Amino acid sequence: MFPKNWLILILVTFLVTSLSHCHSTPLSSSSLSPSTLLGAGEPSASPTPPPDPDRNKYFHEPGGDDLLHHYDARFFQRIVTDEERKDTLRHLIRAYFLTFEYLGLETWIAHGTLLAWYWNGKILPWDWDLDTQVTDQGLRLLAKHYNQTYYDYEEGDGHPKRRYYLDVNPWAWQRDRGDGANIIDARFISVDNGLFVDITGLSEVYPDTDPGVIMCKNDHRYRLRDIFPLRHTYFEGVKAKVPYSYVPILTEEYTDSALVRTEFQGHRWDVPSREWLKIPDDQEVVEEEGATRPGVSAKNDGAYA
Ligand SMILES: *[C@@H]1O[C@H](CO)[C@@H](O)[C@H](O)[C@H]1NC(C)=O
Repeated sequence: MFPKNWLILILVTFLVTSLSHCHSTPLSSSSLSPSTLLGAGEPSASPTPPPDPDRNKYFHEPGGDDLLHHYDARFFQRIVTDEERKDTLRHLIRAYFLTFEYLGLETWIAHGTLLAWYWNGKILPWDWDLDTQVTDQGLRLLAKHYNQTYYDYEEGDGHPKRRYYLDVNPWAWQRDRGDGANIIDARFISVDNGLFVDITGLSEVYPDTDPGVIMCKNDHRYRLRDIFPLRHTYFEGVKAKVPYSYVPILTEEYTDSALVRTEFQGHRWDVPSREWLKIPDDQEVVEEEGATRPGVSAKNDGAYA
């Protein structure tokens, strides 16, 4: 538990370079495409090379496997222990919501992090990363004013100050999936070890044919009325927001069973403490992974983590 009188220090540090960059950047998405941004400094190559998603990818991880793809390559030092992972993620999401509130930017919990919130308002103990969403106006504000800025956070528990880096993908202006290499619009990254919050913007990509439907670049689609008005809640002890219709959103993404299954990833839901507890090694796992309840579809089962 966090001490009641924790004190939070958030310092906004603008990088001079990012400021001058932003001010010279036109903001309307129609007049600015990522290719013009990326192409700016490059010699005009001919003939046009074939598309290469890896070359275009903005956010990099030290590796593509389970152990390495949760770190931002720029801040990765080593694979963290389980304890450090949980501690980092808990403070990361706290700092994230405190920072966004401080900046006056609307944001809410998404994907596996929303499922985590659903159970007990805390991160899942086996989780590796965190997901949030913003509107496309929010994304524009992030890009314009807060791209490549640092935030300091202090718990008041004697732990040294923690620092976070907010970075916005230049491809954030492109709202369709493109080559799929840049579906994450922004990241809030722990400078200490590279673990991060993935931030994605939701926009009405097809207002003429699909009005009221907003989507991210990974083709997750939502009706405006499923997201708004956002519900006020708490996550890891700080104020946070969740989509209005979080149950249908969760069952659509993770199936009905995700909301009732009480064993997952070597953990069992403990009713009295409302916590996911690690199942001791010598105990038999009754409900195997992938097991479903009668009448519950198993679509996408096991994908949440
Ligand atoms: C954020 O800043 C970096 C460095 O200046 C730049 O490469 C990137 O394009 C910026 N992002 C946006 C969305 O403008």
